[in-house]
Amino acid sequence: MGETQKILQGPRHHHHTSLKKPLWVVLAVSVTSMLLICTRMFPRHGRSSSCLGLSSTRGCEDALSAWLPVHVRKYTDEEIAARAVVRDILRTPPFITENSKIAFLFLTPGTLPFEKLWDEFFKGHEGKFSIYIHPSKERPVHISRHFSDREIHSDEVTWGRISMVDAEKRLLVNALEDPDNQHFVLLSESCIPLHTFDYTYRYLLYSNVSFIESFVDPGPHGTGRHMEHMLPEIAKDDFRKGAQWFTMKRQHAIIVMADGLYYSKFRQYCGPGIEADKNCIADEHYLPTFFSMIDPMGISNWSVTYVDWSERRWHPKTYGAHEISLEFMKNVTSEDMSVHVTSVGEHGDELHWPCTWNGITRPCYLFARKFHPDALDTLVNLFPNYTSAVL
Ligand SMILES: *[C@@H]1O[C@H](CO)[C@@H](O)[C@H](O)[C@H]1NC(C)=O
Ligand SMILES: *[C@@H]1O[C@H](CO)[C@@H](O)[C@H](O)[C@H]1NC(C)=O
Ligand SMILES: *[C@@H]1O[C@H](CO)[C@@H](O)[C@H](O)[C@H]1NC(C)=O
Ligand SMILES: *[C@@H]1O[C@H](CO)[C@@H](O)[C@H](O)[C@H]1NC(C)=O
Repeated sequence: MGETQKILQGPRHHHHTSLKKPLWVVLAVSVTSMLLICTRMFPRHGRSSSCLGLSSTRGCEDALSAWLPVHVRKYTDEEIAARAVVRDILRTPPFITENSKIAFLFLTPGTLPFEKLWDEFFKGHEGKFSIYIHPSKERPVHISRHFSDREIHSDEVTWGRISMVDAEKRLLVNALEDPDNQHFVLLSESCIPLHTFDYTYRYLLYSNVSFIESFVDPGPHGTGRHMEHMLPEIAKDDFRKGAQWFTMKRQHAIIVMADGLYYSKFRQYCGPGIEADKNCIADEHYLPTFFSMIDPMGISNWSVTYVDWSERRWHPKTYGAHEISLEFMKNVTSEDMSVHVTSVGEHGDELHWPCTWNGITRPCYLFARKFHPDALDTLVNLFPNYTSAVL
């Protein structure tokens, strides 16, 4: 936890060191006077390290932020309208009944190599889930009746472009048509389930947040991808990063459908090569930024889909059959610290984030990627052994 906080505050210190001298002096003076105010307002802490640290005491932080005019700009009419709509949707309480379902949204180029494993996962839970498939290249061949005829109208998808977000929205809107769908999970063809259906169902349906990864990556592949054109609606400080594989509550899915304003900024200004040296990847930034702006407390900030970036390439590691053992699967299913990989420094940096579910420490991951199709039989054999039904 201490580590996380330190890293999170990194950028702030960074700003200070890069300031030109006169401004730095003015800032130092004002920070000192604020510390004095802070000391007066919280006499019991006195000049303790917490106050001088500028950060570890909640009271000091609040006192400081009250003095620093962070958001001084006026909202445009569109923003005011967008925020009013969002506020109203968020006020609608979730409506969970025994008919409530989880919608599994498969975003795939074509065939789903792990259909047999998913079939094991869904078996016996009919009525508690619905499946939607967006095949962007070719119509898949199915072996499971749960997957037959579940394709929606689809379109081409280009990696990194807004067409990826459009496909996600197409899946969401199709799933929204069924009022029993209360939670929505986006999955790729290389994703696998890590727990039993019952565990997954309870974990998602009774969670009080949506699981959307969202963090500050101060490096070139994070905040470095922010564009001036996104102003004023999307400030650089508000720019976030996160994996595309979300799970979200019905209210949040409706909010995504309602948003035209923030979406249009990403459609126009976020894509590979839109500005010479920037490779903005729309699906890595739109939802993480949007939700951290409009409902920061309503998202987990970490993803329930495990992924391994340890090789530090453009794409994550793909596990083949020979790399999978019961021990490995148990490691992944029991992990309770999530990892965010930033693009700071030559090899990137890692932020560690504890996973809590309604305030209780719980395993982070319900799904995992990426797996090579040759891992199918190994996974089907291990499935009853690595999954746990107890939440
Ligand atoms: C997620 O991060 C935001 C900052 O972007 C923070 O305000 C919020 O409290 C975090 N959410 C949770 C559930 O910790
Ligand atoms: C499982 O986790 C332990 C402890 O972190 C580690 O030593 C071990 O190598 C892991 N095993 C596999 C197969 O990943
Ligand atoms: C979720 O539950 C935890 C634990 O009760 C609580 O601290 C947190 O504020 C809740 N979040 C929301 C968005 O209700
Ligand atoms: C999985 O569990 C079953 C039943 O407990 C056991 O017979 C089998 O040997 C286990 N398989 C592995 C690979 O551990």
